[in-house]
Amino acid sequence: MTYAPYPALRLRRTRASAWSRAMHAENRLSPSDFLWPLFVTEGQGVEEPIAALPGVSRWSVDLMVERARDARDAGIPCLALFPNTQADRRSDDGAEALNPDNLMCRAIRAIKDAVPDIGILTDVALDPYTAHGQDGLLDDTGYVLNDATIDILIGQSLNQAAAGADIIAPSDMMDGRVGAIRAALEQGGHPNVQIMAYAAKYASAFYGPFRDAVGSRGLLKGDKKNYQMDPANGEEALREVALDLAEGADSVMVKPGLPYLDIVARVRDRFAVPVFAYQVSGEYAMIEHAAAAGAGDRDALILETLLAFKRAGCSGVLTYHALHAARLLGA
Ligand code: PBG
Repeated sequence: MTYAPYPALRLRRTRASAWSRAMHAENRLSPSDFLWPLFVTEGQGVEEPIAALPGVSRWSVDLMVERARDARDAGIPCLALFPNTQADRRSDDGAEALNPDNLMCRAIRAIKDAVPDIGILTDVALDPYTAHGQDGLLDDTGYVLNDATIDILIGQSLNQAAAGADIIAPSDMMDGRVGAIRAALEQGGHPNVQIMAYAAKYASAFYGPFRDAVGSRGLLKGDKKNYQMDPANGEEALREVALDLAEGADSVMVKPGLPYLDIVARVRDRFAVPVFAYQVSGEYAMIEHAAAAGAGDRDALILETLLAFKRAGCSGVLTYHALHAARLLGA
């Protein structure tokens, strides 16, 4: 490709007016790009603001239904639910994840009942249910066991699917869990329940506020580096994605988001599959604190970062800004 030299070519020409910029925009955000992560808590009429995530609250099931209506009305296609399990229901083996009447399942059923036309994605990992805050079962040395954890994740997935979850999203990073969950869903009468694999999930410092939100920060000892990925690695992310696709994932996710847009772009280039990114809690907090400190206009910061995900090749983004951004775009 050759270009005419200046002054025949002036790239500023097409930028000179708003109509022309609109016409030449390569990417565009819409509310249907957003998946909205929400935290559910016990009780009735309860809203618990989360200090580490300014502007984000946990909601009891009845109020969660209201949030689902807000999301649907704003054009958001899908919610991502996370439970703040009561302390006395957490255990070393995370068995509450298998309880058909646990907080998650009650929230799923209530939303599906009241707002049947919105999708529900559910996280599969044991950390909101374990007394130690790790995503799986531990051996005597504290190592997170792979295969024994998968057996429970299968049960957790079937439990969520039976309650009405549309997309199962394993976020635990155990090897082989996507194939095992896919097989169980097929055999268990859930052939149309999707799997969105947290395929390239990094052991990140950006998850701190989330762990507050689900009540696992104080419980967690150590880190998650023996199962989540090393932030140093990019090639390995491509192997993770290839494996999860081979095991039957319908779509893949990269997480965190902004610091890992190179991974999004590489996955998009290599595989012709839907790629999602999770703009995680620490990224959300970073934007909120920056805006509060006067470092930039909040709405502009939000929309610019979300647009960056589209430019990198994302089909959609999980973001705590989903409702606000959808309303901005809809206005
Ligand atoms: C659970 C899980 C985590 C997040 C999503 N699912 C935390 C973790 O892996 O420690 C983080 C999301 C966020 O920070 O917004 N495995």
